[in-house]
Amino acid sequence: MATPTRESWEAAYREVEAALQSADPAQAPDLLKLEEVRVRFLGRKGSLTELLKSLKDLSIEDKRELGPKANSLKLSLDEKIEKRQRQLQVAADEAALQGASIDVTLPGYRPPRGRLHPLTQTLQEMTRILSLMGFSWAEGPLVETDDNNFTKLNIPEHHSARDMLDTFYLAGERSEMRESLLMRTHTSPVQIRAMLAQKPPIRVMAPGRVFRHEAVDATHSAVFHQVEGLYVDRKVTLADLKGTLQQFMQKMLGAETKMRFRPSYFPFTEPSTEVDVNCFFCKGQGCGICKQSGWIELLGAGLVHPNVFKAVNYDPEHWSGFAFGIGVERIAMLRLGIKDIRHFYENDARFLRQFDESLV
Ligand code: FA5
Repeated sequence: MATPTRESWEAAYREVEAALQSADPAQAPDLLKLEEVRVRFLGRKGSLTELLKSLKDLSIEDKRELGPKANSLKLSLDEKIEKRQRQLQVAADEAALQGASIDVTLPGYRPPRGRLHPLTQTLQEMTRILSLMGFSWAEGPLVETDDNNFTKLNIPEHHSARDMLDTFYLAGERSEMRESLLMRTHTSPVQIRAMLAQKPPIRVMAPGRVFRHEAVDATHSAVFHQVEGLYVDRKVTLADLKGTLQQFMQKMLGAETKMRFRPSYFPFTEPSTEVDVNCFFCKGQGCGICKQSGWIELLGAGLVHPNVFKAVNYDPEHWSGFAFGIGVERIAMLRLGIKDIRHFYENDARFLRQFDESLV
């Protein structure tokens, strides 16, 4: 359009208005024709689009007066087109439905079957074996008292063993730590809860999640799982502990599993030991996962310390016992051949899909 004067613009406007009346979108017989109308008026080179564009060449006063007129023409056209589009779409859908028939012989949609997480599978198998060995279920909260997590386990307030475990504290200052709450750093506080709740003899297992403010690598996570075991009776010895763990490991990891008891230190057991099994990945030759040692540490254990018995009012002269805390992730890695603990928590379906229940 050549540079318009007010008169020429108004003439163009009347033309568009008249054209619109004869090409009424409400009468468009189908979606294709309706689109033609839209393009004719509102397309990039449509007559109404051109008219709106040419407003910019008018004087400010003319623009102010004529602009709203042109805009309302556009709005009403938009509305008419949209309304007709909906009508035609509904009619088209109805027609399609009338002609269609349902083929009941087509195969249905099969929803993908879920499976238990490999850690849950491992945990279930561990507790199944332990329950066959006479251990019953015990539980404790993830948020523990400082007292149960440390003090009653013979780790008093200023004991250096507290520094071995980087703890997530929930409230309180160091000075009032006795009362403060924390995320439990191990499942051992469940030993305390079980002994306070029942009289000996006792044989319990306590599976669950634990938390440590720890650097994450292929075999360490800040949130992981343990299964605690506690056996209290008369004259329990290290031989009972060894026999129990031997049975358990062979059931869990296979008859050829080799175990190694390494003297260690836990304040709540005396003597204490850490138990390793031969590295599944390198068959004991040494690799990155076992840090070239040929062994992977699976658990801590020992004979219950007399101070722990005293803390729960059991007579240490009368009662003896063993306890252990097994790392669930480490067992799962060995059983399933998983080289990096982080895979467990990434929720990658391609990883999880490999571990069917039937594998365990
Ligand atoms: C303990 O937690 C003791 N409560 C175990 C215990 C219980 C000893 C009863 C004596 C009597 P430790 O910190 O070593 O001990 O952890 C036990 C096991 O948990 C380890 O052998 C390992 O298998 C696993 N574990 C420890 N830290 C991590 C971690 N960051 N990520 C994954 N697994 C871990």
